[in-house]
Amino acid sequence: MDPAVFPLVLLTCLTLFTVLETQSITALYGETIVIPCNGGNPPPEDLVFIKWIYKRDDGTTGDLLIKQIDSEQATVQAIDEYARRVSISDTFSLLISQASLKDQKVFTCMLVSVSANQEYSSNVIVQKAPSSVQIFDTSEALQKDKLTIVGTCVVADSNPAADISWKKSGNLLVSDGKAVVISSSFKLNPATGLSTTTSTLQYAAAKEDSDAVFTCISTYNRTNKDVDLKPFPIYYPSEKASLQILSKEPIVEGSNVTLKCHGDGSPPPSSFFFYKKGVKELVENSNTYILTSIGRDAAGEYKCSLADDEKIMASKHIVVNYIDLTVSLTGRTVKKLGDVLPVKTEMNTSGNATVTWIKNGVKVKEPQFNSLTYADAGVYICKVSMSGLTEQRRFELVVEGKPWIINLRKHIMDRSQVLICEANAVPEPRFEWSIGSKTEDSFNYTDGKAVSKITVVPEGNLTVSCTVTNSYGEDVKTIDLYPEPSGNSSDHIKLIAVGLVVGLVSLAAVAGLAFCLRRKSRRQGSWSTRERNTGTPEENETLQHHNI
Ligand SMILES: *[C@@H]1O[C@H](CO)[C@@H](O)[C@H](O)[C@H]1NC(C)=O
Ligand SMILES: *[C@@H]1O[C@H](CO)[C@@H](O)[C@H](O)[C@H]1NC(C)=O
Ligand SMILES: *[C@@H]1O[C@H](CO)[C@@H](O)[C@H](O)[C@H]1NC(C)=O
Ligand SMILES: *[C@@H]1O[C@H](CO)[C@@H](O)[C@H](O)[C@H]1NC(C)=O
Ligand SMILES: *[C@@H]1O[C@H](CO)[C@@H](O)[C@H](O)[C@H]1NC(C)=O
Ligand SMILES: *[C@@H]1O[C@H](CO)[C@@H](O)[C@H](O)[C@H]1NC(C)=O
Repeated sequence: MDPAVFPLVLLTCLTLFTVLETQSITALYGETIVIPCNGGNPPPEDLVFIKWIYKRDDGTTGDLLIKQIDSEQATVQAIDEYARRVSISDTFSLLISQASLKDQKVFTCMLVSVSANQEYSSNVIVQKAPSSVQIFDTSEALQKDKLTIVGTCVVADSNPAADISWKKSGNLLVSDGKAVVISSSFKLNPATGLSTTTSTLQYAAAKEDSDAVFTCISTYNRTNKDVDLKPFPIYYPSEKASLQILSKEPIVEGSNVTLKCHGDGSPPPSSFFFYKKGVKELVENSNTYILTSIGRDAAGEYKCSLADDEKIMASKHIVVNYIDLTVSLTGRTVKKLGDVLPVKTEMNTSGNATVTWIKNGVKVKEPQFNSLTYADAGVYICKVSMSGLTEQRRFELVVEGKPWIINLRKHIMDRSQVLICEANAVPEPRFEWSIGSKTEDSFNYTDGKAVSKITVVPEGNLTVSCTVTNSYGEDVKTIDLYPEPSGNSSDHIKLIAVGLVVGLVSLAAVAGLAFCLRRKSRRQGSWSTRERNTGTPEENETLQHHNI
């Protein structure tokens, strides 16, 4: 071709291009867009030059660059911002750096050759994955049966816009306008052209949803991205109140009684009214009310209600147990034998009580003393019991009077005889035995009972009297004694029978000798006595053995 006519040919040719193909090119936001000139096919052999143009939004055409086949460099023709972003590759692909959504246009590659003019158009689409998926504005808790915002899910800056869906514990939620309301919207950033998708989930919870996990799912380019929310507490109002009495049972006068009110809502209510005998008292940030040192007058109906809903109320009856007890005798009472002593017991109790009388540790009937005897003396306890509560009163009764001999007996030991005189007497009596200046072997006075013992060896028939005396008078009893034949003691027979060692036998012989000597030394009387504890070892042993 004559170079002189080239511009003319070009001009002609430009108007006669054949559009061969329109393809779609997808590029990533921020990166370089690569638009192949003719689908990657090799250019015609007689190619003269390549020109890239684009279509503006208003329909006009803009020049980008031109590349003469015989020159090294392409000539950038663009005069807008493409001037610094466009270049051409070795294979004549158009390169546009830093793709943005404004590059979503139709770019056309014009191939001008000697034989033909061809045009390849490419529709550029720029995609951008969302920069974030986040949930905002979550509620602290969900309300039972009441639409509450679970959260707002925001998928920011993508192209095309992402879709948002919600799941509850793995199950897709569908807006039904009642229990589930999902409102979604898109927003386009005018500067970048990127879309932000927003979806707000409102949900009317049930009590069982307290473990539910809500998930926001962002779907972009057929890929899902999940964001989970921690389970929410479910709030619901109280339907019932309950009143508890925290106190050791039974409640007795003087106890501190704690009333505890409870509402079954969630979160549990924290303020209450307590009603006591028509008086209403507000208790805030606590569910207890303390009745200090409760009295019997405070028994009765107690109520509590929720501070924010007084219709929700509970009540309990408080029983205050008490026992008032007085017994007409207290401490130590001293009376005379035969006296009349009325015992008055008075009691007031809050319920049915049982009364028990105990004398000296043994259960007895209620005491009534029409004529006091020594047997009436003792420590009395009146015990009144009622459902875990016990009161008792104690008194000691001492009965004084003249002695009363209850027993005078003898205990025969070999030739000697132990005389035992027992008498009831208060105060403590003296004993006199009708055998002169003889002193007692033993004397014991316990609980109004006196015991005196002496040992005698009667030589002939003898009557011995025991006289017991105190400040109120005396009592006398006599006993007849007969001498016991020597060696007739069953103990001695037994000793011989078992063949005791010679030592013991000779010891007995010595004792017998000593006895004979003593007898000779006291010739005046028809009887003899021995001082306390001067018997032979055997005799003492035997006395102890018989527990005399
Ligand atoms: C969309 O998915 C395709 C295929 O998985 C991938 O090649 C492309 O890069 C993705 N686009 C974006 C913007 O992530
Ligand atoms: C009852 O409470 C009061 C004051 O809180 C206390 O002083 C008293 O010891 C309590 N009484 C009993 C029986 O616990
Ligand atoms: C029992 O109650 C009556 C009437 O209130 C009273 O007169 C009496 O003193 C009470 N008895 C005792 C033991 O408190
Ligand atoms: C007391 O006893 C009577 C008769 O046994 C009975 O009817 C009544 O219910 C009892 N009261 C209480 C408070 O237990
Ligand atoms: C006195 O008699 C009582 C009751 O019989 C008895 O328990 C006590 O041990 C006796 N005391 C002496 C010193 O024997
Ligand atoms: C002693 O009393 C007994 C029985 O009563 C009688 O048989 C005996 O004769 C009396 N002896 C003397 C010396 O009186």
